[in-house]
Amino acid sequence: MKTIIEPFKIKSVEPIYFTTKEERIDILKNAFYNPFLIRSNDVLIDLLTDSGTSAMSSNQWAGIMRGDESYAGSPSFFRFEETIQQITGMPLVIPTHQGRASEKILFSILGGKEKYFVSNTLFDTTRANIEFSGAEGVDFICEEGKLPSIPAPFKGNMDTDSLIKFIATKGAENIPLCIITVTNNSGGGQPVSMANIKAVKKICTENNIPLFIDACRFAENSYFIKLREDGYADKPVNEIAKELFSYADGCTMSAKKDAFANIGGFLAMHDEALALQCRNLLVITEGFPTYGGLAGRDLEAIAIGLMEVMDEHYLQYRIRSIEYLTNKLIAEGVPVMQPAGGHAVYIDAKAFLDHIPVEQYPGQALVGALYLEGGIRSVEIGSLMFGKYGEDGKLIPGQMELVRLAIPRRVYTQSHIDYVAEVIIEVFQNRKSIKGLKIIEEAPMLRHFTAKLQPVE
Ligand code: F0G
Repeated sequence: MKTIIEPFKIKSVEPIYFTTKEERIDILKNAFYNPFLIRSNDVLIDLLTDSGTSAMSSNQWAGIMRGDESYAGSPSFFRFEETIQQITGMPLVIPTHQGRASEKILFSILGGKEKYFVSNTLFDTTRANIEFSGAEGVDFICEEGKLPSIPAPFKGNMDTDSLIKFIATKGAENIPLCIITVTNNSGGGQPVSMANIKAVKKICTENNIPLFIDACRFAENSYFIKLREDGYADKPVNEIAKELFSYADGCTMSAKKDAFANIGGFLAMHDEALALQCRNLLVITEGFPTYGGLAGRDLEAIAIGLMEVMDEHYLQYRIRSIEYLTNKLIAEGVPVMQPAGGHAVYIDAKAFLDHIPVEQYPGQALVGALYLEGGIRSVEIGSLMFGKYGEDGKLIPGQMELVRLAIPRRVYTQSHIDYVAEVIIEVFQNRKSIKGLKIIEEAPMLRHFTAKLQPVE
């Protein structure tokens, strides 16, 4: 087989900024060892997130010019609405400024004290919105999903036995919604199988619990189903996506991922009464229902991006490029989540830095080391992001200690990725010199965004 190439050529470029290691030592210290506090001009290769960082296509930029900025009834909204209806089969479409705005609206309505939201794994903003409403979020990830080094085709699957038990214990009436995140971002970007979605849907139907999809990366998940699940090899990705959505009562979406947009999101659903409540909240928080939190031009860019992402040449390149970096690291013995996920490479920081205890945040320590060595920005998905304190004040760690290198869509070329691999391998060879960190300041919610840390001496 020949090399799988980037299925695009470059029309417009932007500079990246070089710094020296000496400069980065100061930058990291001044940013309190938190990558969110580093200025992006001080970053060489920015793998902090794949969210809102995509390169838009010439067609999307053309759509930006076509965008109609009418307050009500813009044709851009109707193109947006029709595209989403076509992909999801859901008739009621509500635009929002990004994924978490959809979550805020949904959980403000359905959440509240003594309620439980069940999931394969809730993303951090989803969990935070659930908890902010007074409710609790509970993850039931399958056993193989908890083991970074053991490959399995669908490590994003929900553990249906635990789900059934939980429903029996807590009572279905206290569970307003089940949410399946595709792909499972916080668990390694791993896909969920169609069979698992169907099985969860069956349990939900039997218990009268609606099922929503957190659909940020629906196209990447659908492509994994095509590659790995029996019976889907010859199906076009748009049909697979349609089937995936057909099992759901609704979805939340951040268009900053698979829609290649720099901003945007939506809620889509079948339930008229729920949609009415959502739109009532939408007008006081986001905007009028035909633009939500967006400009007409954003609605155009999203509608075009949603169709582009299902191009199978693109998806083949996308999935392959993540696998390419993952395999280079595996070849050098670097512990990574296996197999490769859909949008990011996840390093198992607990294994990489086995001399640093979880209380000293090995993931965050590795994030700092990658920045120092090569100007690469990554993010910790571990106990800084998900850790909590017990009543005794002791850290209750997150499920895993991962470092995510999220690859923005259509942005970096293969030589950028080769460079990233070289830096990680060099850091791996010198890993014993890396020190743990302690928190010196933190916020009560989503603390990883603003926490200040310093090295443990
Ligand atoms: N759900 C998932 C699975 C996500 O990955 C994100 C965002 C959201 C919801 C929220 O969407 O950012 O548009 O409000 N993930 C980004 C990331 C931030 O870096 O993974 P948003």
